[in-house]
Amino acid sequence: MSLLQCKLGTLSLKNPVTVASGTFGSGKEFMPFYDVGQLGGIMVKGTTLEKRLGNKPQRLVETCGGVINAIGLANPGVDYFITNILPEIKEYGSEIIVNISGSSIEDYGHMAEKLSIEGVSALEVNISCPNVKDGGIAFGTCPDMAGAVTAMVKKNTDKPVILKLSPNVTDIKIMAQSVEDNGADIISLINTLIGMAIDVKTKKPIITNVVGGYSGPPIKPVALRMVYEIYPVVNIPIIGMGGIMNTKDALEFMMAGATAISVGAANFVDPFIPLNIIDGINKYCKDEGLFHYSEIIGIAHQ
Ligand SMILES: Cc1cc2nc3c(=O)[nH]c(=O)nc-3n(C[C@H](O)[C@H](O)[C@H](O)COP(=O)(O)O)c2cc1C
Repeated sequence: MSLLQCKLGTLSLKNPVTVASGTFGSGKEFMPFYDVGQLGGIMVKGTTLEKRLGNKPQRLVETCGGVINAIGLANPGVDYFITNILPEIKEYGSEIIVNISGSSIEDYGHMAEKLSIEGVSALEVNISCPNVKDGGIAFGTCPDMAGAVTAMVKKNTDKPVILKLSPNVTDIKIMAQSVEDNGADIISLINTLIGMAIDVKTKKPIITNVVGGYSGPPIKPVALRMVYEIYPVVNIPIIGMGGIMNTKDALEFMMAGATAISVGAANFVDPFIPLNIIDGINKYCKDEGLFHYSEIIGIAHQ
């Protein structure tokens, strides 16, 4: 077995480094830079039942640290994805994890059913988008609703189901337990925090939506704390994300309890960061004399 082979229940990745939904398109966009088949997994841009144009621009702003986005789940719709995008990207050799969103619990069920097809390795259920009016974050902040979405997706698919949690809650442990109790196979966290920026010249919020999802290096301590908090209270694997910029960040998430990690906003800074992290984890394991990278998962709890 390779040093970096990653097992998340029934989902197997060639290494524990994935790229976060919304920051890597469908993977096609990055093929001109490098062979994305080297990645453990690609979490594709959030997909919905119907095509969505998303919110009005300006919908992305760089702050003194990190970015605020209010894209509003712009995407061509699940049918277009299945017919026109999936056939190409499933050949790349990286596991394709499709990120799904819905305005109702039934939407999530339909999405799960449609995506239970060859080429899709797992579903990542976004119950935490702060940038859409219907559904979105409402599902991610109420334990019962998060549980109900999980149960609906599980009922409609045999694929591994990853529940993506929102950090915008008082107690992340309750959310994690609710999705686990309702059948989630894996938990990914965190989605974005809620932030805003104001232009002092126009005296108006920069993002047309006024507020947006805040991500990048400054949210790492929050994300790391949440991974650390849920690790002892759930029995399913965790994919950690939030501000990961380099190997050290990735290792911290693993030591907090993440079996795999996801690189998000960092892809906008340097698309090679995920590959550098794969090499970096490999080197760290060799330097430390580890038999397998999993020896460090949750080690910070000992
Ligand atoms: C521009 C942008 C678009 C995003 N779109 C999605 C999305 O469609 N679905 C989703 O679950 N998360 C989405 N996210 C959240 C990221 O997947 C990730 O959870 C978050 O950015 C934290 O990681 P980071 O700090 O490394 O960026 C988006 C983030 C950004 C910056």
